[in-house]
Amino acid sequence: MRPRVLLTRRLFPQAEAILSGRFDVIRPRGIRMARDEIVKGARDAGGILCQLTDRIAEALLERLPRLRAVSVCAVGYDNVDVAACARRGVRVAHTPGVLTEATADHTWALLLAAARRVVEGDAVCRRGKFPGWDLGYMLGSRVAGATIGIVGMGRIGRAVARRAAGFDMEILYHTRSRPRFDRADALVAARAKRVPLAALLARSDVVTLHVPSRVSTRHLIGGGELGLMKPTAILVNTSRGGVIDQSLLAEALRRGRIGAAALDVFEDEPRVPPSLTRLANVVMTPHIASATGATRLAMATLAARNLVAILSGRPSRAALVPA
Ligand code: GLV
Repeated sequence: MRPRVLLTRRLFPQAEAILSGRFDVIRPRGIRMARDEIVKGARDAGGILCQLTDRIAEALLERLPRLRAVSVCAVGYDNVDVAACARRGVRVAHTPGVLTEATADHTWALLLAAARRVVEGDAVCRRGKFPGWDLGYMLGSRVAGATIGIVGMGRIGRAVARRAAGFDMEILYHTRSRPRFDRADALVAARAKRVPLAALLARSDVVTLHVPSRVSTRHLIGGGELGLMKPTAILVNTSRGGVIDQSLLAEALRRGRIGAAALDVFEDEPRVPPSLTRLANVVMTPHIASATGATRLAMATLAARNLVAILSGRPSRAALVPA
């Protein structure tokens, strides 16, 4: 009998073919598998390919004694209890690298949309409410030449910084470990300054978050941090919702303590709270920063290859999540 793997959601056919050539693949009947379906389907499975919406917790692992591999089709893997996997000898892989540029592009789309009030302007045009050109109408803020503060200088943070260099911005960044600048980052390395978080928040016109979701980054941006930011500052988040204290953010935006926010991620997805949707100074997208066709295909393909590699005893170090 061929080894069995389980998909919690359907992938693209090319990515599924990588698995079906080698394994007996259990697929969801509907759009995605509910937890019970996963428990039942993965009972004798060696591997699971999951999405960031699937919680792979200790209680689930206890019911899957044959599991050896969890492959997450995302760069963030906060949905997986990595320590519990390690205790059971289950290796975990993710998809770093292939979504860096798409996520940085989307960060930039949000940043520009918030700074130049693109969504408000679009709504006015659609509702037939354009009052006619006026010198002081719908003023936004200039991005070129402004100061950007990048929190987290991993792959995506550096890709955002490269774009900022093109916009001739002053680049500040905050990171716990030394960034690994490579040749493509030469301009960034020459002009970006590493500063403490408090200084970054106080000096930046735009603050953008690129840290993983961990206990240590939960509510990294809370009341104190929002209080340090300029009243005109724009906060951009394409990382994970829990990195910001969302209710304090809504309050800060409502009271004009910061200028605007641009969010792709939320604390309790897919719920987007009315405290945010009511505000004109927020631009929002539904967790789509990596959502280009080519990027999602690359993610699915890599996730499938990662599963094959672990189950055949040849996992790539780059894709393995440290235990
Ligand atoms: C998307 O949010 C990802 O982590 O890949």
